[in-house]
Amino acid sequence: MEQTSLSVDRDARRLCRVDEIPDGGSLLVEIDAATPCVVLRRGSEVWAYLNRCPHFSIPLDFEPGVFCTYDASLLMCAHHSAMFRFEDGQCIDGPCAGAALTAIEIEQVGGDVYRL
Ligand code: FES
Repeated sequence: MEQTSLSVDRDARRLCRVDEIPDGGSLLVEIDAATPCVVLRRGSEVWAYLNRCPHFSIPLDFEPGVFCTYDASLLMCAHHSAMFRFEDGQCIDGPCAGAALTAIEIEQVGGDVYRL
């Protein structure tokens, strides 16, 4: 019985499979209508952030799911080109330098990505 509830709970937290995220790229995942997130991958490392730029609190993508990434290490906001590091979401260049994306805590289990 507990195993079933754990399984249901885990299913509800599943974001995607690691191999659905292009290596060095990104994937838009709608946790719910109010929580779109961008999942980033470099090899076996994966990070997730709220799809909201700290500059104007608008989505980071050009159109839904179309993000711009560089060298498997930076995500660029579509609007004013702020550059965010994959590994910590820090903005290292652009109009909101020093700000950061909102991290979504995740874990990987068996090739799947789950939020915590
Ligand atoms: S809205 Fe993202 S850099 Fe301006």
